Amino acid sequence: MTSSGVPEIPRGAIGIFDSGVGGLSVWKEVDSLLPQEHIIYIADQAHIPYGPRPLSEVRSFAEGIVRFMEEVGVKLVVVACNTASAAALKHLRATFHMPIVGMEPAVKPAALSTRTGKVGVIATPATFRGEPYARLLARYGQGVEVISRACPGLVQIVERGEQHSPATIGRLHDCLDDMVAKGMDQIVLGCTHYPFLRRTIEEVVGEGVRVIDPAPAVAAQTRRVLEREGLMREESNPGSRLFFTTGDSPSALSEPLRRLLSVSAPVFTLRWLEGTLVLPIEY
Ligand code: DGL
Repeated sequence: MTSSGVPEIPRGAIGIFDSGVGGLSVWKEVDSLLPQEHIIYIADQAHIPYGPRPLSEVRSFAEGIVRFMEEVGVKLVVVACNTASAAALKHLRATFHMPIVGMEPAVKPAALSTRTGKVGVIATPATFRGEPYARLLARYGQGVEVISRACPGLVQIVERGEQHSPATIGRLHDCLDDMVAKGMDQIVLGCTHYPFLRRTIEEVVGEGVRVIDPAPAVAAQTRRVLEREGLMREESNPGSRLFFTTGDSPSALSEPLRRLLSVSAPVFTLRWLEGTLVLPIEY
């Protein structure tokens, strides 16, 4: 335990981050696939939402978070955020030495499986603005119609825990009904918050539309990279799990952890200080 009450962060952990609770959809898969690994999760709730921000700003947040992870000895980073991946993945890989696993909307499997030739993607505005998305469409969107839709407000709905409220159902109908009417038969969840809305999305789009969540594939890729780099923790004992938020209150993360994943764990606070992420100092 350090003087600020934060437990020692074990060196050689996997570091996972997002703007908020969305990345927990990826954390859950990594947690169950790699129980022996130490994992730290950082929710940058001081800056949520990332989606409407300029890509350069999101890139500097991502860099600050990965810099912190590097300092505490993280061995591999998972950018559990499509927005931060779109804004920063290339830059992070050029700046840091550890392997970095990122995300992109799963257009490829959707395009390969569609029968109607119409695929929907829901993601944040910044994800659609980024160059990686344009490249993805050029590569896999040939011969299929890809309907790309930013649905404002869904990230905050998940943060507030209102996944099943009548207002949320109405919001999803506003966002998705015309995509269904156009014949979409695949919908890609291009933001890590959206898997927590999966049940409601399935109700709104109906049985004929397959919902694609890339989180299991990201966890499988994390494992492949650990194996390839010889970084797997060879232990039968379970690794530790630590959770951090940059937000005002630990409950902004501890409550969703309980609500969404039935995980009861302490959450510790990190502070942004002129672009640098620091542990709070106890006076
Ligand atoms: N969960 C994030 C993503 O996958 C970002 C949401 C946001 O902060 O706008 O894109």
